[in-house]
Amino acid sequence: MKVVLGVSGGIAAYKACELLRLFTESGHQVRVVPTRDALRFVGEPTWAALSGNPVTTEVWENVHEVPHVRIGQTADLVIVAPATADLLAKAAQGLTGDLLTTTLLTARCPVVFAPAMHTEMWEHPATRANVATLRERGAIVIDPASGRLTGADTGPGRLPDPEEIFEVCRRVLRGAPRDLAGRRVVVSAGGTREAIDPVRFIGNRSSGLQGYALARTAVARGAQVTLVAANVSLPDPAGATVVRVESTAELRTAVLSASAGADAVVMAAAVADFRPAERATSKIKKTSGEPEAIQLTKNPDILAELGQRRAQGAGREGLDTGRADRPAGAGEPGHAGELGESGGAGRAVPDDGPAVIAGFAAETDDVLANGQAKLVKKGCDLLVVNQVGEHLAFGTPDNAATILVAGGEPVEVPRGPKEDLADALWTLVAERLA
Ligand code: CTP
Repeated sequence: MKVVLGVSGGIAAYKACELLRLFTESGHQVRVVPTRDALRFVGEPTWAALSGNPVTTEVWENVHEVPHVRIGQTADLVIVAPATADLLAKAAQGLTGDLLTTTLLTARCPVVFAPAMHTEMWEHPATRANVATLRERGAIVIDPASGRLTGADTGPGRLPDPEEIFEVCRRVLRGAPRDLAGRRVVVSAGGTREAIDPVRFIGNRSSGLQGYALARTAVARGAQVTLVAANVSLPDPAGATVVRVESTAELRTAVLSASAGADAVVMAAAVADFRPAERATSKIKKTSGEPEAIQLTKNPDILAELGQRRAQGAGREGLDTGRADRPAGAGEPGHAGELGESGGAGRAVPDDGPAVIAGFAAETDDVLANGQAKLVKKGCDLLVVNQVGEHLAFGTPDNAATILVAGGEPVEVPRGPKEDLADALWTLVAERLA
């Protein structure tokens, strides 16, 4: 495929070299189009050598080839990484002045921006407005990662890992639909840990792979994603806001807070059903006698709580916290009717809460029957049911499942990469949001 790698003038330009290698090594033809300022950070010979193609910044070079039109017209994807505040502003305004900005105007293929800048610049209303404009026009703008910036500053503004930007681009090149554009989704991933004492915990085998696959695929489909990650040691998916938690109580707080104003919540995390009733403040020591039994107490069921809150209209505050971009129709009375069916008759009519709530059910026996009962009991719209065992699902890149649909036919997803299952779920989510 023909890829244009636009590079604007930020210190993160050096990370674009790695991104370029990922494209070329996977067989893509890459034309690097840096801005003049980008060349102050990484020079033309580096881009030329790594891409194997000529590198031009101006429209006045090789004019007979009409590069300011041809490069954009023939591209299958344009990715701008890093995209500075200045470049985003120019792109939003449709300004031209160099080869990159003219390429952005002539491109009819998918365009992905990976911004990187200081937090203040990213959060400035001017940048927010430019990003909103670009997203409205169909571009994918990957939210920057949080972390160490140039100098001593930390905060949102870092260019995500090149591998993760590449992952978004790979999905876009494969034709990921843009059916989650303008939607806010929350995904929980991993497995919660319940402390016994300062060094020990009760945990589970969840790797977080399925939840991370859900986050990645949602970003490529245009969603703004909050990923609540419980004890996962995987790289942050580009574009997702990652909230790290350890215990079920922390996961609950993070999921409920992120759900206010979200369009969909997918609970892929393996949540501990029980926790030690008391957490020892010092390490429990071996004693000469028999060890004491650990008393357990029940954890809240977060998925069921989301369903109940929505049914009771308890998420009303969410209306004031970021629903500005919510398309008309989501969560309106028509949807309330659906909830009445899955959430039980006689409940209050919901007036807010995520329009789609999805869960996962890992079962060892009577998989479908148990899943169906769980779907109804937890009041969710979609439930991904899969069989687990020692060698099934946990920590493997593959998964096979049935997606149960409230008021609809189940959807079988054959064994394949966890990304495929994630895509199948998002298709159902997007249909219900439409
Ligand atoms: N879940 C949750 N809170 C809990 C337990 C589970 O939100 N305390 C969510 C999980 O994230 C998952 C779904 O509920 O999306 C089903 O989890 P599962 O463990 O299969 O269900 P349980 O209710 O724990 O039922 P079981 O008795 O089969 O363990």
